[in-house]
Amino acid sequence: MFSTGRGGKPLEEPRRISVGMVGAGIMAKAHSIAMAAMPMLFWPPPALLERKLLADVGLKSAEEASLRYGYSAFTDRWQDIIEDEAIEAVHIVTPPDSHAEISIAAAKAGKHILCEKPLARNPEEALSMLKAAEEAGVVHQVAFNYRKLPAVELAKRYIADGAIGRVLRFKGSFLCGGYDPNMPFRWEYRKAVAGGGTLTNLGSHVIDLARYLAGEITEVNGALRTYVHERPVFADNVEYFREKVDVDDETSFAMRFDTGATGLIEATNSAWGRSTFITFEVYGTEGSLAFNYNNREQLQVCFAKDPAERRGFQTIDLGPQHPYGHGLWQSPQIGVGFSELKSIEAYDFYRAIRDNSAAIPSFFDGYRTACVCAAVMRSAKTMSWESTT
Ligand SMILES: NC(=O)c1ccc[n+]([C@@H]2O[C@H](COP(=O)([O-])OP(=O)(O)OC[C@H]3O[C@@H](n4cnc5c(N)ncnc54)[C@H](O)[C@@H]3O)[C@@H](O)[C@H]2O)c1
Repeated sequence: MFSTGRGGKPLEEPRRISVGMVGAGIMAKAHSIAMAAMPMLFWPPPALLERKLLADVGLKSAEEASLRYGYSAFTDRWQDIIEDEAIEAVHIVTPPDSHAEISIAAAKAGKHILCEKPLARNPEEALSMLKAAEEAGVVHQVAFNYRKLPAVELAKRYIADGAIGRVLRFKGSFLCGGYDPNMPFRWEYRKAVAGGGTLTNLGSHVIDLARYLAGEITEVNGALRTYVHERPVFADNVEYFREKVDVDDETSFAMRFDTGATGLIEATNSAWGRSTFITFEVYGTEGSLAFNYNNREQLQVCFAKDPAERRGFQTIDLGPQHPYGHGLWQSPQIGVGFSELKSIEAYDFYRAIRDNSAAIPSFFDGYRTACVCAAVMRSAKTMSWESTT
């Protein structure tokens, strides 16, 4: 029990959960901020989190990250997290080539798993992760964080309530910029590590939004383009050599949904002037919805039932009355940034653990997205429609 001072009712102490983090890079920062901020935003929280152990193959990175992000200890062996019986939940924020091995070991050890996207390099790996998590009965969530935007959840409610009728069409994009042959080589440019390029890295987020809002994607027909085939590898600011790029810089593809709806997605890292330019439009028999991440606290809605002279897109400003609004800021437009988004993601993950319920998006969603990406890759070769099953 927490003491509340004179006359106060004692507060029920939230459950405490010890957490391990695998990876010390950019997403370790995002997940650690999210864990620290979760009870500050969402009170009472589903759990109070103890950031216990951080692992990275680079011991120096692990040490620095553990200090910076507030972990009690660090290691260069992710297995130390798996072997620590006090750790109940693991965040996997390494590149995709290690997601399956770490995740399956974590599931077998009975630990709940929040794994970064893309869930795996291909559908086979993703399916093995899903099976391991289901067999172990642990909570599993994949970090398609844009699903957690209040505007996306509001769009989902409009669609579920029938406010825009039957969905006819989904159109989405994730554009970043731009074309730069001197951008240094990173693991994202190697298929053996990443599983794909902009398709799996950026496009997977939009595929997840499409599946969430418009239904299961059954067929795709698309293209992949690589603009820069070699990228520089630097050491001490000197370019040593150029490494081969074997993934796409850009993709665009058409989709058919199991609902009969159709759609289009595009993703690129070669769009000057665009930065995290995530958009979607959903057109239904009774209305339309439109969203742009650059104005992420707004959702545009249009209803066919409005009188013709007043029909058009209206702007809904997201605020405390909207999904997750009770934990966010009290006025619209103060800001739902990436840290808030990751806090909502953590909030949902730890709520599922507390309630012994399923988390979404789950490893099933990660698996289905991997199936869609694999079908786009096949379609780019066959230049025809490919099934996602
Ligand atoms: N959800 C999002 O919006 C979002 C944004 C960026 C990246 N990501 C995803 O997050 C994951 C990590 O990306 P990042 O940008 O943080 O990468 P990063 O390169 O910044 O960091 C990855 C870290 O993992 C470590 N690592 C690699 N293999 C390891 C292993 N086997 N065991 C322990 N540590 C290991 C590396 O040493 C590195 O420190 C990727 O899957 C990426 O696609 C998601």
